Amino acid sequence: MTMPDLNSGALAPVGDEVEVPAPMVSGAIPRDLNGTLIRNGPNPLDGRFAGAGVLDWWPEAAMLHALTFRDGRAVAYRNRWVRTRRWALAAGRDDADGFPDTNPNVNVVHHAGAILAMAEGGAPVAVTRALDGARTPDWLGPFAAGCGAHAKQDRRTGELIAFHAGWAAPQVKCGVYGAQGEALAAMDVALDPAVSIPMMHDIAITATRTVLLDLNVGYDLSMLSRGYRLPLRWFDDRPARLGVLPRHGGPVRWYPIEPCFIQHVVNGYDEDDGALVLEAVRYPWYFRAAADGSFEDDPLGLLWRYRLEPDSGVVREAQVDDAWLELPRINEWHTGRRHDVVYAVEQPTPQEMRGLCRLQRRTGERQRFEVAPGDQNSEPVFVARPGATAEDDGWLLACVYRRATDTSDVVILDARDIREPVATVSLPRRIPAGFHGAWIDG
Ligand SMILES: [Fe+2]
Repeated sequence: MTMPDLNSGALAPVGDEVEVPAPMVSGAIPRDLNGTLIRNGPNPLDGRFAGAGVLDWWPEAAMLHALTFRDGRAVAYRNRWVRTRRWALAAGRDDADGFPDTNPNVNVVHHAGAILAMAEGGAPVAVTRALDGARTPDWLGPFAAGCGAHAKQDRRTGELIAFHAGWAAPQVKCGVYGAQGEALAAMDVALDPAVSIPMMHDIAITATRTVLLDLNVGYDLSMLSRGYRLPLRWFDDRPARLGVLPRHGGPVRWYPIEPCFIQHVVNGYDEDDGALVLEAVRYPWYFRAAADGSFEDDPLGLLWRYRLEPDSGVVREAQVDDAWLELPRINEWHTGRRHDVVYAVEQPTPQEMRGLCRLQRRTGERQRFEVAPGDQNSEPVFVARPGATAEDDGWLLACVYRRATDTSDVVILDARDIREPVATVSLPRRIPAGFHGAWIDG
């Protein structure tokens, strides 16, 4: 798997930490938009990627970027490497062993007062809004030693549903934490030891249940001795299935589905008749090795809906939209509840994340925020307007890399009409493409 040039354009890392007070703004920043957008992604400590493959990019050091808004102003932008042992060693600190030995470079989740930088398996690290500090909260219990990056929050109950699906054993660890971080439930779900361990990057929750993705991409550790650096591949013969378990514990029930790979879930919810709906970005296959041992180019993802019917055991699955997209987000007050509006990044080609779309189920309306060829953008983050009652009453924030200036804008879109920004913050340099981000209120 090769990537576009990692050291130029949207993916290129930055070499230092800066603070930009009062960055330039065009348009009018909504006065009710008070909080901080934080983004996470890999950024080598020496400011330069060493190679050209996905493994030269994804495991690099976690860097966070924060842009704070207050009273209609963009107050400040700053970026910081997460203060891990790896960072401390590179900085020549003689107390490096006192820093957490982890690299939380994938996601940001705000729970129980902790702004958590999270990775695919390592220890999460709490940072301040100013991106300082690095401490793994004690309340994470067993997940302090390793946690998946896409823990889900139920805003209505204040719960965090964490999971960890490692490559070392055929099981998924699930845990539920209350709004203050109190442990409410913990369970280990056994996977089939007769087949390869699946790669499980995301889960879904409903108001009552958790959905595990046991799909066709799995670990093949024999690949390491054959020269591959990433021991993951598509398994034709691996049964794809969705595992449904009660949120606070109980037996898992598996539902077979058509072979596929899902990297990111849109949402899940319960229906009145007991059925469970899962929406996700689905790939018909992924990480598939060709006969000569190379990997085929991965296909692009499509929005897919599964309806699991417990009474009959039937799964109805269908494509929802014909646009290639990834990094879907919703108004997270609807996580685990029925949603009507999906926002996502458009992928006109496998190399591009360019453009945003807004898909509304009730009306069938599609809207696009267009981004010019050569430019690229991040995933959209939804921010609810204070006091909003409608699902789409709020804003959508996204970083847009501008090739002509090699800088990034942060665009603020009206989440009801995303076609033109209501305001644009122009930073004097780029925010590298990275992975995921979050809005921290207040
Ligand atoms: Fe992700």
